[in-house]
Amino acid sequence: MRYIWGILAAWMLIGCGDNTKKVHYNGGMLLEEKCAMCHNLKMPPSTYEDEKAPPMMAVVFHLKDFMKINNDQDKVTKFIPFIQDYVLEPSKEKSYCDEESLKSYGVMPSQKGNVSQDELKAIAEYMYTFYDQQVYLKEMQAKAAFDALPKGEQLVRRSGCLNCHAIEKDKVGPSFKNIAKNGTEKMIDVIQNGSQGKWKKFNNMMMPAFKDKFSKEELIILKEWIDSLGKIEVPKPWKVKK
Ligand code: HEC
Ligand code: HEC
Repeated sequence: MRYIWGILAAWMLIGCGDNTKKVHYNGGMLLEEKCAMCHNLKMPPSTYEDEKAPPMMAVVFHLKDFMKINNDQDKVTKFIPFIQDYVLEPSKEKSYCDEESLKSYGVMPSQKGNVSQDELKAIAEYMYTFYDQQVYLKEMQAKAAFDALPKGEQLVRRSGCLNCHAIEKDKVGPSFKNIAKNGTEKMIDVIQNGSQGKWKKFNNMMMPAFKDKFSKEELIILKEWIDSLGKIEVPKPWKVKK
């Protein structure tokens, strides 16, 4: 099999669903404990030199694909038993790895004695759920959408400003469009030092100080982004009515 990776920014899925309620083993922790010394567990994997084994995400995506595993039924009848068997009794013949990868990694050494059948069940359950192509795709799309936003909006989204401000509508504080139109020139000062009472409508509310939160460049990016929201949007030519 081929493990082909685009170079991906280092990001990780947040929150690893733990679906091992019936067994009291924690699949995620066991995976970390028993398999991480060889398999890169990150999703997507960080690339590094002299890998001892294929990254776990690649292993699971590949197995799901080759073994045609599409639902929970397949998980129980095919995926879990394969993991339980392979980890204890690995062989060149059973491996779904391609020749070339098998040659470079070597067949996985049996983990007999290191891990039990029950532990492997929990590990396999966890692997099946955590390394999910749909979830991965969604995360990738969300990340791509975020990256496509203007830098200023990214800063605002990342810094908790949206707890009090929205782009269009006034909330706890004035909307960013409102600020663009009716705000002061001292925007940067307000972001750094906070403010209260300048905007009548938000009399009792306070803008907290974000003293050392942003670099000078970031403050300028923020200001320019907010200012840009006040610009009149020029209608696209095909929308102009005659
Ligand atoms: C000492 C290193 C090492 C450890 C520890 C290890 N593996 Fe592996 N594993 C490998 C190597 C090398 C391969 C690739 C060659 C192969 O397919 O046998 C591999 C491949 C696999 C495969 C893919 C088989 C296939 O057909 O593509 C699975 C599944 C797997 N490992 C699961 C696990 C699990 C689960 C654990 C922890 C319980 C684990 N491994 C621990 C080295 C290791
Ligand atoms: C806890 C709520 C809260 C948070 C969080 C918050 N703001 Fe504010 N913000 C306000 C309020 C309320 C005002 C109005 C203050 C006033 O009336 O003096 C305000 C005013 C402003 C202004 C107007 C400046 C001017 O010209 O008067 C800017 C710009 C601004 N906020 C940017 C931000 C940015 C950027 C963030 C995130 C880094 C942020 N705010 C986070 C509540 C908040």
